[in-house]
Amino acid sequence: MSPFLITRTLPEDTVGADLRADVLSGLTRTRKELPPKWFYDARGSELFEEITRLPEYYPTRAEREILLARAPEIAAAAGARTLVELGSGSSEKTRHLIDAMLPGLDSYVPVDVSESALTGAAEALTADLPGLRVHALVADFTRGLALPGTPGPRLVAFLGGTIGNLLPAERAVFLRSVRSLLAPGDGLLLGTDLVKDERTLVAAYDDEAGVTAEFNKNVLAVLARELGADVDPADFDHVAVWDPEREWVEMRLRARRALTVKIPELDLVVPFAAGEELRTEVSAKFRQAKVRGELAAAGLELTRWWTDEEGRYALSLATAR
Ligand code: SAH
Ligand code: TRP
Repeated sequence: MSPFLITRTLPEDTVGADLRADVLSGLTRTRKELPPKWFYDARGSELFEEITRLPEYYPTRAEREILLARAPEIAAAAGARTLVELGSGSSEKTRHLIDAMLPGLDSYVPVDVSESALTGAAEALTADLPGLRVHALVADFTRGLALPGTPGPRLVAFLGGTIGNLLPAERAVFLRSVRSLLAPGDGLLLGTDLVKDERTLVAAYDDEAGVTAEFNKNVLAVLARELGADVDPADFDHVAVWDPEREWVEMRLRARRALTVKIPELDLVVPFAAGEELRTEVSAKFRQAKVRGELAAAGLELTRWWTDEEGRYALSLATAR
């Protein structure tokens, strides 16, 4: 078995400092909010994998369907020797793409904030594919990445609809930073969930079994463990709502009664009125024109667009100009 490399580009304490800053600014404003990356500790990554297997959560199955059908076309169009994947998680679906890119593929560079997800994925891949170099990066993809010096051409994959978890202004900055990782002719493979009926969308983020509710509340467990917050997840309800104007699903935690959350490490007491909500994530849904326009604004030209049979989800291939 070939060993894999893992590089932590987040200095040990960035997590603490970043979380403190996000909590201070997010929980002291009128409309409380937290960035979604704080869901993904080891438990959060496990719960996300459980979400991907829920009957209501179609995006993973739809994306896998497209990857299975189109991996050879994607591999041929990209002709890449290095595959970089942002927010790679378990890398499970990516396996179809990697299989199609071998033997031309030299290196796979998965990037994630979740070290446990990266180690699990890298172990499985190196055990099965001894010829593939795997260089995992523990890094925040919103912070500007330094990639290892592996051979080009490069294909950057950003799957799972994770781009929808960034706000529009953040997406613009993010896409420009992705463009800066590419040489002209290099590619970006982007997974986006598509606008559809409200029922299907809301059910995907509010499942019968309550797994998504547990995932959403996991951010409270992170606050308790990392910052000593005295917060009881049972005091909050999981809420998922479709915003038809902005075309995104919003995940929130709603206080079941008036309460305060004390965060001694920040010297902070956060009051919640009964029914007050904390926004924990948005999940934007797309149309082709929006994807094409946002890519173009970042110097990326949409060259291929594939959807699943039911037209629920799209994979785009874009080329750096
Ligand atoms: N690509 C996988 C996982 C999607 S879930 C799939 O399609 O199933 C989103 C992933 O992005 C998680 O693994 C999470 O840990 C990671 N992530 C979220 N915010 C991140 C950030 N700012 N930087 C790096 N990784 C991030
Ligand atoms: N990228 C995933 C999505 O937007 C993340 C996700 C799925 C998620 N279910 C969730 C985030 C529930 C928060 C809560 O589909």
